Amino acid sequence: MNHPLPYGGSIRKLWVADAELYRDHLLRLDPQSRRSRFAGAVSDQFLIDYADLAFGIDAILHGFFVHGTLRGAAELRPAGPAIPREGEAAFSIEKPWQSHGVGSILLERTLLAARNRGFKFLHMACLVDNKRMQQLARKYDAELSFDFGTVVGEVAAARPTPLSLLREIIADGHGFATAMFDVQARMLAG
Ligand SMILES: CC(C)(COP(=O)(O)OP(=O)(O)OC[C@H]1O[C@@H](n2cnc3c(N)ncnc32)[C@H](O)[C@@H]1OP(=O)(O)O)[C@@H](O)C(=O)NCCC(=O)NCCS
Repeated sequence: MNHPLPYGGSIRKLWVADAELYRDHLLRLDPQSRRSRFAGAVSDQFLIDYADLAFGIDAILHGFFVHGTLRGAAELRPAGPAIPREGEAAFSIEKPWQSHGVGSILLERTLLAARNRGFKFLHMACLVDNKRMQQLARKYDAELSFDFGTVVGEVAAARPTPLSLLREIIADGHGFATAMFDVQARMLAG
């Protein structure tokens, strides 16, 4: 599926150097989105600590930027050494950019990354009453089958192929150019 991004938007992977941008994005989430993302009300301090820890080993984050500001993010991480081939995914998009297809594109990127890392099951860190997230996941029924009772999705064709690896490299190549632009813009602004 190919969706256009909202005007002025771009997506690239996030790295540990982006931790501050991620923290500021999480702090901008409105109370409802914050609750949906973290399965309950969480404090500002929780988000500050969380953003620092989010870039741990093996985490893959994609960010949605509008004019250099991080407005959305998707996290993918292994479920843990005891549960190989299972991952956890979570999404956060600031309210003005919700329902514009950004979640769909971030889920596509996350699925591709999950597939290329051999994940067979993806746990979605989302409440079972999160209808929008469920609608979003249903659009990817062909690639992901969901049991919303337990909110676990199975990644179809979990094996990477040369083409799926190439798709990720191409997506990153585009993202890398944009990332360099962002870094330069920030250096000039500072
Ligand atoms: C849930 C979330 C990730 C979805 O991302 P999004 O960018 O808003 O979703 P999209 O625009 O890609 O829409 C995906 C699908 O959701 C459904 N949808 C979109 N807006 C909706 C709305 N207001 N009400 C109900 N369903 C809606 C549609 O089926 C849509 O597909 P379509 O446009 O092809 O019909 C985003 O809204 C978000 O970050 N919410 C707050 C945090 C959260 O709930 N995170 C998920 C738990 S980890």
